[in-house]
Parts: sequence; C-alpha cells; structure tokens
Amino acid sequence: MQSDTDGVNVKRILVLNGPNLNLLGTREPEIYGRITLDDINETLRVRAHEAGVDTIDFLQSNFEGALVEAIQNARGRYDFILLNAGALTHYSIALRDAIAAVPVPVIELHLSNIHRREEFRRTSIIAPVVMGQICGFGVDSYIAALDIAIRRIQKDTK
Ligand code: DQA
Repeated sequence: MQSDTDGVNVKRILVLNGPNLNLLGTREPEIYGRITLDDINETLRVRAHEAGVDTIDFLQSNFEGALVEAIQNARGRYDFILLNAGALTHYSIALRDAIAAVPVPVIELHLSNIHRREEFRRTSIIAPVVMGQICGFGVDSYIAALDIAIRRIQKDTK
C-alpha cells in the first residue's frame, strides 16, 4: 500500500479484460447482455471516483502476452486487479503463472455463470491463484468485484 505525502493511503486498481470482451454489446447479447465495455468501464470509473479511489486504469487485449505483461507490470503500481480473462480463463497457464508470480491480489470475474455453461467453461485454471471468483451477474460482477477491492484496501489500511 502506498501513502501520499499526507500519509493518506492511495488506492490503485487495474481492470483487465481479455479476448473478445471488446465486442460486448453485440457479442452473443443473450449471454453477455447489450452493455458495451466502454459503458462498464465508465460505470466503474464513476463508482471508484465516488469511493475515493485514486487511480483506476483499464486494459482490454485479445493477446495473452499483453495481459501477462500487464499483470507483471502491476507489481508496486496497483493494490488490486479485477480480471475478466475471457476464454483464457480456461486454458492459459501463462496467465495463471503471471498471477501467481506477482504479489497483487486478483479478483476473477465473469459476466456469465461459467459453471452452468458448456463443460469446458466450468474449469477456471486461474481460480486456484486468485483471491476469489465472481460470476453470473452481468455488469454487477464487475461492480461487486470493485466494491470488494475497495473494502479490502480500506480494511488493510486500518
Ligand atoms: C466470460 C466467460 C468465458 O467463458 C468466455 O470465454 C468469455 C466471457 C464471461 O465474462 O462470462 O469471453 O469470461
């Protein structure tokens, strides 16, 4: 946890989205809804600002390596990562290793309930190395993850 010059704790959150999440709004709306990623990010930005978060940054990439690098670079820069890894959730050992290697807590989240979909989605290979998983609540999965991160940061600073 970083402190500013007045000794007040600084809260920094990184929101990462993986492959195909740039298509939200038009992608399988019966599963993922009609909200766009920009709308989700704006909702999070406003909520984070109201809660006194100092920095909330957003990255979406369709490339595994870009997400791995973002996680590696989060060390010392962020207090929490909110991660919707998309399909990488189910097979990316590189992503799992990056999460395990970096001492920044990660909340895994999904719009859909991955446990009531196809068999291959029921396994999250990142689940054992994240703090916890939220899924099945659409945009509220992101909001819940943000709220938990904020509460955790506040708790840690007391
Ligand atoms: C997802 C679920 C994944 O299985 C899928 O590959 C996605 C989106 C979700 O938010 O529900 O891309 O992570």
